[in-house]
Amino acid sequence: MIGIFDSGIGGLTVVRALMEELSGYDIVYFGDTARTPYGNKSPDTVIKYALENTEFLLSKGAKIIVMACNTASSVATDDVTKRFDVPIFEVITPAVELSVKTSKKLRVGVIGTRATIKSGIYSKKIRDLKPDTKVYSYSCPLLVPLVEEGWLKKPETTMIVKKYLHPLKVRQIDTLILGCTHYPILKNIIQNKIGKRVNIIDSSVTVAEKVKGFLEKHKDIDSLLSKNGECRFFVSDVTEQFEKIAGATLKRNVILEHVRM
Ligand code: DGL
Repeated sequence: MIGIFDSGIGGLTVVRALMEELSGYDIVYFGDTARTPYGNKSPDTVIKYALENTEFLLSKGAKIIVMACNTASSVATDDVTKRFDVPIFEVITPAVELSVKTSKKLRVGVIGTRATIKSGIYSKKIRDLKPDTKVYSYSCPLLVPLVEEGWLKKPETTMIVKKYLHPLKVRQIDTLILGCTHYPILKNIIQNKIGKRVNIIDSSVTVAEKVKGFLEKHKDIDSLLSKNGECRFFVSDVTEQFEKIAGATLKRNVILEHVRM
């Protein structure tokens, strides 16, 4: 099974991308809905949660782990990789690699939670690969709750997106990384407000491509993964709202199983 975790249900955007890239692979998902959001917690707390979440997924039969959460990927990758002897994927590197490959003007914008932006990980990784790149990073803390409220088509959401993206528009970026699980759900509004000429990088898609490429090269690991098209979705708190968003994100009926963390 492919194990995927997120601070909540935003990581289902990664499940959706993985289902497209690797259809038929069994998936076990854990959304830490009782302890969400991670985006405004300290690195120590997020590391502790990421270790516990990984442990849980391994106990359910996961053979590889995808940290769908940008915040966890930003601050907990080293600790998780050191602690567990299975392939661990995070969402930052694949998006960074694509951004430096495709940005012609070398002007890249990044949006994410407060913790992700504060970690400085995107700018560091981008500059490690292409030191001349100008990276403009902004946190957009209101976008996660708006998505969770299902305010996807409200004029207020469009206004807030516009306000958040204004400084990036002024900087004339040509590439924008969506550095948060929830933002792909707002991709159309974001594209509209940042302008058609800006290439949007969706980290849910890039990590799915990375996992696929890895499994093509590592047949031994691929052979460990069951492929019966089964998906299980665990959450640390079940609410109607989560069930609704989960169903809408995956466009299918999702049964959430409760697990106490
Ligand atoms: N999953 C988080 C991320 O991608 C967003 C939600 C949260 O703050 O927990 O950064």
